[in-house]
Amino acid sequence: MREPPLLEITGYRLAFDGFEGRAQVLDGIDLRVEAGETVGIVGETGCGKSVLARSVARLVPMPPGRVLGGHVRFQGQDVMAMDRAALARLRGPGVAMIFQDPMSYLNPVFTIGAQMVDVIRAHDRGAGQKMRPRSAARAAAAELLGAVRLPEPGRLLDRYPHELSGGMRQRVLIAMALSGQPKLLVADEPTTALDVTVQAEVLRLIEDLVTHNRLTLMLISHDLGVIGALCRRVVVMYAGTVVEDGPAETLFDRPRHPYTRGLLAAVPDLERPAHRAQPIPGQIPNLLDPPSGCRFHPRCPLALPVCAAQRPPLRDVDGRRVACHRAEEVA
Ligand SMILES: Nc1ncnc2c1ncn2[C@@H]1O[C@H](COP(=O)(O)OP(=O)(O)O)[C@@H](O)[C@H]1O
Ligand SMILES: [Mg+2]
Repeated sequence: MREPPLLEITGYRLAFDGFEGRAQVLDGIDLRVEAGETVGIVGETGCGKSVLARSVARLVPMPPGRVLGGHVRFQGQDVMAMDRAALARLRGPGVAMIFQDPMSYLNPVFTIGAQMVDVIRAHDRGAGQKMRPRSAARAAAAELLGAVRLPEPGRLLDRYPHELSGGMRQRVLIAMALSGQPKLLVADEPTTALDVTVQAEVLRLIEDLVTHNRLTLMLISHDLGVIGALCRRVVVMYAGTVVEDGPAETLFDRPRHPYTRGLLAAVPDLERPAHRAQPIPGQIPNLLDPPSGCRFHPRCPLALPVCAAQRPPLRDVDGRRVACHRAEEVA
């Protein structure tokens, strides 16, 4: 029998209920990720990238979140149906996540060592193994800090999060993420809060770790440059839908969705400063009352009446999947 894909999301619809009503935040996401892929997810702020990423490890708070349909499966197992033991096996040995703001995920009152020891032992338990003694977990923590290229790991274990720089904290969290020996690393804007030079170092570290540990990578960023540097496949999201999905070079060189084209045109070109970056006019829609048909149609320069009337399905065109009625004409 063929192995199921590492991650398979089908028809996934997620909403948030609030005072003003129900925001339809993800609307029918279909996405399959095979082991070993490096997938970048890109789109403007508010397009649903983070809630999609968090859904993979069932980290969306429910309520106010509510799944309206579809499935998220990891190695064939329905993530929504998992019990506590299955969730513990998912988080750590299955999926590890790193986020934009490392300080929020470190406890300011405990040393780095104490927090890493707890995480490492929790992963032992999650994997169904006997928890190793604290001394052994501490040795493993030091080794992991070395692996993320932090100097003097032994001394670092006794320091507190506020004594570290932002880049160092993010490395600590990457080390914690790796401690469960995950299959899938989900990195949600991992470098957005860092200085540009530190950003490049952390990206290179992630790239090396992915290659070295044969990790599957799902990298979320609003920055196409970051995605292009690390990912062979790019998924473009707009207002809770996947609009284009394919090999990075195909999407960057020959985008077929007007939104992908718009995103690319909005990137400043350092080699041709005279070539002004063109922001996409308008804003992402209010998800309490999203546009009919293609959610991008109110901002789309190519929109036809059919675009407001019918939602374009994701279909195979020219070596990628694209959801646009006019995909053949965009070149
Ligand atoms: N916990 C939450 N409660 C209510 N709404 C939320 C919550 N988390 C995210 N949202 C909403 O979901 C939408 C998508 O958010 P998000 O996934 O963070 O976007 P992105 O990561 O692409 O910037 C936004 O409209 C946001 O306001
Ligand atoms: Mg986000």
